[in-house]
Amino acid sequence: MTRRALIAGNWKMNMLRADGEALAAALASGFAAGAAADLLVCPPATLIAPVATKLSGCAVAVGGQDCHMNESGAHTGDIAAAMIKDLGAGYVIVGHSERRADHGESDETVKAKAAAALAAGLTPIICVGETEAQRDAGEAETVVGNQIRGSVPEAAAEDTIVIAYEPVWAIGTGRTPTIDDIAAMHAHIRQVAGGVLGGADKLRLLYGGSVKPGNAVEILALEDVDGALVGGASLKAEDFLAIAAAAA
Ligand code: 13P
Repeated sequence: MTRRALIAGNWKMNMLRADGEALAAALASGFAAGAAADLLVCPPATLIAPVATKLSGCAVAVGGQDCHMNESGAHTGDIAAAMIKDLGAGYVIVGHSERRADHGESDETVKAKAAAALAAGLTPIICVGETEAQRDAGEAETVVGNQIRGSVPEAAAEDTIVIAYEPVWAIGTGRTPTIDDIAAMHAHIRQVAGGVLGGADKLRLLYGGSVKPGNAVEILALEDVDGALVGGASLKAEDFLAIAAAAA
């Protein structure tokens, strides 16, 4: 089964408009149509529209970083999946560990958000990952398996969602699991997700956590790694494009 790689950039709470537009323009001119990977950027909500404008007509897709679980209504400050879609986005990240930690999002919340994304016609990128204490206690696979069973909505199919494995302790730290640990976890995730979805041959599994041009080739070569969710290195066009090239 050949799954097309997806290299996704999570800009997090970074970039004002001028810098975001400049980064989008650099990606638009630097990313070759016909490349081996799909490229996606997820800017802050304030920049989805201007970034989508800069990227219109080129192969780089746009996504959100979060959405509300409801279609509309009295939820001050929140953004519905349909609103993100309306700006030209095709994807939305849900359940990032920073949202699980900063906003107390449970698996149940993440599942409802992923369902809302699907209903709006977006592809949810559902994030899972263990803390360092959980890995040290030998619980990483159990924790991640439970997150998948709790966060993947009933309406999901293997080709309508993406799952990103991001060990919390590898995010922004420059540390990554060993290649063997990444391979083992991704194989485990495909097995668990396959049980939930009724098959996972087409499911794209991304690795995230300190992905850089220097480690991308080795990580992306793993059989069950179908791309990367990149934080810090996605803020520099040169680094992000180098990671995309590593997926070839
Ligand atoms: P870093 O690539 O900065 O470690 O961030 C990973 C991440 O959280 C992407 O969602």
